[in-house]
Amino acid sequence: MKKLLSALLIMCVPVFAQAAGPAVELTPAPINKDDKVSLQRGAQIFINNCLGCHSAQYMRYERMAMDLDIPADILQKNLLFTSERVGDTMKTAMPTELAKKWFGTVPPDLTLAARVRGSDWVYSYLTGFYPDAKRPWGVNNHVFPDVGMPHVLANMEAQLGEKGFKEAMADLTNYMVYMAEPMRAERERLGVYVLLFLAIFAIPVYFLNREYWKDVH
Ligand code: HEC
Repeated sequence: MKKLLSALLIMCVPVFAQAAGPAVELTPAPINKDDKVSLQRGAQIFINNCLGCHSAQYMRYERMAMDLDIPADILQKNLLFTSERVGDTMKTAMPTELAKKWFGTVPPDLTLAARVRGSDWVYSYLTGFYPDAKRPWGVNNHVFPDVGMPHVLANMEAQLGEKGFKEAMADLTNYMVYMAEPMRAERERLGVYVLLFLAIFAIPVYFLNREYWKDVH
């Protein structure tokens, strides 16, 4: 009994450890990974506003365009910077040394951010900037205290209003979740073929099986 109790206790430790972290309320991200229009909007916001400082070096433009049904001409015209090719990964133009000087830290690669932090965290972060005169950029963040990132979407927020901005941030979060698992769409597509193959393959196997056992019975 004692052993059982201590085993149970040990199993609970990680749960307690997590619960002991700082209590920030996360807002559930209202995202739908099957909503291609939302993902396309998110991709556009991401490429136009985030790659100035962050990279997403495991994501290729080509792959994104294919998964999200973005036509080649729109990719070329609206989403690629002049020097980039469709096969490139999403790099940033920000030199590391300058970033350190300006922000005190290097903006991290964002390819996997949504998987590391979770979609609710990312959504809460993007919607969590608030004015704080004591900080170098005049802003702070509810889920990332004393963050080194400026509120780069402040203009967008002013333009869209609260409701519109939250929708835009949901689209952006949706895109970041997709990006953190770029093979997902591919796997789901393959899954259908695999099931179809198995279903078709089952027919000859069934008859072959019957043929083999015919004489045994
Ligand atoms: C002007 C430069 C700049 C731009 C533009 C920028 N960021 Fe950042 N971002 C930073 C810096 C610097 C940090 C690191 C903050 C820190 O460690 O204090 C950061 C941190 C983050 C983090 C937290 C990463 C983590 O897990 O610790 C996320 C998420 C993020 N940025 C998302 C975005 C998104 C999405 C955009 C586009 C809308 C964006 N950033 C645009 C500078 C920038």
